Amino acid sequence: MKVVNLLRRAMHNSDSSAQSLTEILAGIANQSDLLNRRFEAVIAGLIAIDQKLSELVQLQGSQAKLTARLIGSFARGESPPIGYVPEEAIAKYPVVVSPICDIPYPVVDLALLDLLPAVASSPELAAASEFFLHNAAATRSLVSALSHALLYALVRNLLPEHVIEIGTYMAGTSEAICRALERNGKGVLHTTDPFGERAPAVLSQWPSELRRHIRFYALDSMQFFSEITKQRDTRADLVFVDGNHEYESAAFDIGSAARILRPGGFIVVDNVSQAGPFLAARDFLALNPQWTECRVTNHPYDATKAFDSERSNIPGTDFIVVRGPANYAVGDRPVTFGEFPLRSTGFGEIVVLVADQVCDGTLYVQGVLRGFSSHQEPVEQVNSTSRTLSAADAGAELRIVLPMDVGSGFDIARLEIWLTWTGAIALLIRQPPSVVS
Ligand SMILES: C[S@@+](CC[C@H](N)C(=O)[O-])C[C@H]1O[C@@H](n2cnc3c(N)ncnc32)[C@H](O)[C@@H]1O
Repeated sequence: MKVVNLLRRAMHNSDSSAQSLTEILAGIANQSDLLNRRFEAVIAGLIAIDQKLSELVQLQGSQAKLTARLIGSFARGESPPIGYVPEEAIAKYPVVVSPICDIPYPVVDLALLDLLPAVASSPELAAASEFFLHNAAATRSLVSALSHALLYALVRNLLPEHVIEIGTYMAGTSEAICRALERNGKGVLHTTDPFGERAPAVLSQWPSELRRHIRFYALDSMQFFSEITKQRDTRADLVFVDGNHEYESAAFDIGSAARILRPGGFIVVDNVSQAGPFLAARDFLALNPQWTECRVTNHPYDATKAFDSERSNIPGTDFIVVRGPANYAVGDRPVTFGEFPLRSTGFGEIVVLVADQVCDGTLYVQGVLRGFSSHQEPVEQVNSTSRTLSAADAGAELRIVLPMDVGSGFDIARLEIWLTWTGAIALLIRQPPSVVS
């Protein structure tokens, strides 16, 4: 009877068919030989259905189903079973993975803003670069061995919980990052690429020690950032921007990366020899003066060249590396840290943690609260207040009264907090503002 129920479940829910098949096989092993023979034909039919479904998913060009399986699996901290990626894809992209080992890296003082010259001239970085030059994954990446060594060194030093890569391609750079996470003994790389079957096929062949440090999303960067910002706790220490190289896409990726970055984190922008990523990084730095460009050399910008292979100020790479301020900065342009769901339909106070230094000025706070329900139209409320601050508020936890409530009858309330500051220098805050009910 148990086996029959399992079969019914498998027929009705194609998503769980692979898992159900495993359970069926386990169940059948305990049945009599007679039962085994009876079910043989049914199982063969189910396997054929499962194969057809995989083909259909591919034919539609949609990786959504595949991604859901991979994410679900990784989210439980497991390696994805090989069966989750079509066998043809694996056969098309067979990979060799070099053994996991210690790779030298320079230990740096992260408090130093100008840390790249010391990193670049260190013998450890040269040794790491030598490793990545001969790493089997070198043929699966579009960046140099030195670029891998630099990213490896950054991840080893940052000890991040989360790293993000936009543009996985064949996961060559993902591997360099995951090698560092594996040695750190913690951390997850969230990597996204909307095209093709390449990345899942490659990842399914990685050893489990590396796979447990990666989550692959078959999404474009816009969908990806929308998803990842819903996980409020996922703030990255490093974002590698290497997706679509059009100016608008690169600008979006850099701006979105900045919003999800932890204070003092790094955004590494690849392919700055191309005008799109280069101008996007440059415009970002111009708009955000609290951010620093980390460089080794100081080539002046040749405005007559759209494409310039000599442009990067980190020789041996095609990178611009920008680093966020040690605290979140609020200036005279309204800033938000994104919309987030509330536990109830309203709240009473906004909490702002001020950094150790503050000048005289006024902090303007606006809440935009939206209520959603399955049985009535959505509502939007806006409420505003302000607080004058002085040096005496340095390090304070400000509790700013701003009561808002969409009222009962709404299933979900989502809040956007906007901050604006008028002071001689930017107001630094220690973390994104939160609420007290
Ligand atoms: C230069 S390759 C990435 C190379 C990879 N990071 C490496 O170091 O080996 C660019 C990748 O970005 C992907 N891509 C293109 N548009 C994208 C988008 N809007 N969002 C995310 N990835 C995108 C492409 O499919 C391609 O695989």
